[in-house]
Amino acid sequence: MSGQQLWQKNNCFNCHQLYGLGGYLGPDLTNIYSNPNKGPGYIRAMLKSGVKTMPVFHFSKQETDALLSFLKEVDKTGQYPNYNANMKPDGWVEITTENEK
Ligand code: HEC
Repeated sequence: MSGQQLWQKNNCFNCHQLYGLGGYLGPDLTNIYSNPNKGPGYIRAMLKSGVKTMPVFHFSKQETDALLSFLKEVDKTGQYPNYNANMKPDGWVEITTENEK
């Protein structure tokens, strides 16, 4: 089964978002793969152990690999949110989009 099918079959989107779309119980996972503080090892650990608010899934190694490559592919398609908003003391909001960097 492909990573995307596993993502759908296990209802990851009920609790997680990709590009801001999905459930809001857990965090957005669009760029978790390339996140320097998280990344593949962290995702594996999370899937293996679960946490209070996230169930343990008992995925096989192949399934975990498939989900990881799905999240890697999603990550490559862009950044979410794709802007950085910075509020100045006078209330002016400066917005830099990823494309301007
Ligand atoms: C019942 C709701 C629920 C479902 C279903 C669910 N998750 Fe989660 N998940 C959570 C919550 C809540 C957290 C945050 C836990 C925390 O940080 O305490 C989380 C955290 C994560 C994290 C770590 C995110 C981070 O930024 O730290 C990953 C990766 C993850 N989930 C992947 C998945 C995948 C893949 C699936 C589907 C196979 C899935 N989750 C299904 C609720 C869920």
